[in-house]
Amino acid sequence: MPVYNKEELVRFVEEAKQYARYGKVADYIPALGKANPNELSIAVYTADGKVVDAGDVTVKVTLQSISKILALALVLIDRGEDEVFRKVGMEPTGDPFNSIAKLEEVQPSKPLNPMINAGALAVTHMIRGRSVEERLERLLAFIRRLAGNEQITYSEEVAQSEFETAFLNRSLCYFLKQHGIIDEDVEELMDLYTKQCAVEMTCIDLARIGLVFALDGRDPHSGELLMPLDVARICKTFMVTCGMYNASGEFAIKIGIPAKSGVSGGILAAVPGRCGIGIFGPALDDKGNSLTGVKLLERLSKTYSLSIF
Ligand code: DON
Repeated sequence: MPVYNKEELVRFVEEAKQYARYGKVADYIPALGKANPNELSIAVYTADGKVVDAGDVTVKVTLQSISKILALALVLIDRGEDEVFRKVGMEPTGDPFNSIAKLEEVQPSKPLNPMINAGALAVTHMIRGRSVEERLERLLAFIRRLAGNEQITYSEEVAQSEFETAFLNRSLCYFLKQHGIIDEDVEELMDLYTKQCAVEMTCIDLARIGLVFALDGRDPHSGELLMPLDVARICKTFMVTCGMYNASGEFAIKIGIPAKSGVSGGILAAVPGRCGIGIFGPALDDKGNSLTGVKLLERLSKTYSLSIF
């Protein structure tokens, strides 16, 4: 286990920040457009329960697509693999996260994987509960347990901002409804999905959730199993194959760590058996991944030989 050193981490952050000028903050969700592209923070949570961080780790980041992996873990626990994978596939698309293009190619129609928006909407649809509020509370309770932080909640401003502008996601929902993959009211699903994406936390919380996946579902402090081993394994596999969308191949070669990105600039990474990593860097590349965050992870992976391959 390498000893992560604060001074070194601070230096890596400063180096990676130089790339911020080549990136762009997401603004298709208007509230995210307010982020500062020069911000970059990281926390590394090691299996022995220690945290090393750099940058302003008090800043909270909304999960956006990172939430897809957590919703997936919950529905796998709720419904089991067979039921979940009847509605969503297991294959990478090679397309952008919000693409509608491949939905007609699979017969009977279903989204190719749970990380693209169409698949994530099908997963959120499967969260059990009698109302949007109850389903959101169940998801929040699960996320709070993984992060070991009871304070975690969602940003109403970001949720509202996405809810008002998510026309493409609504069209994906109507496509899914037409093909019998979802059967609930589209506005209700959009309400739940936008709140799920707006769940916010610090890099330290993110890193701790990454560590739970890295430890095959175990709480790093109590050793309690927070999700079955198979659920943690499936989630990590999706992180490798689809976690960075149509950049997942290059990411696997250059960095080789199971990871999930969000358009807020967050990255959740799980180095099996070793550590969880949380990053926040809102300057994005053209595929919607944190440009500075990916540079930073590449530096860490090379320095500490973190690739799983
Ligand atoms: O559905 C959306 O478009 C956003 N709430 C999440 C997309 C996202 O984070 C893609 N990731 N890089």
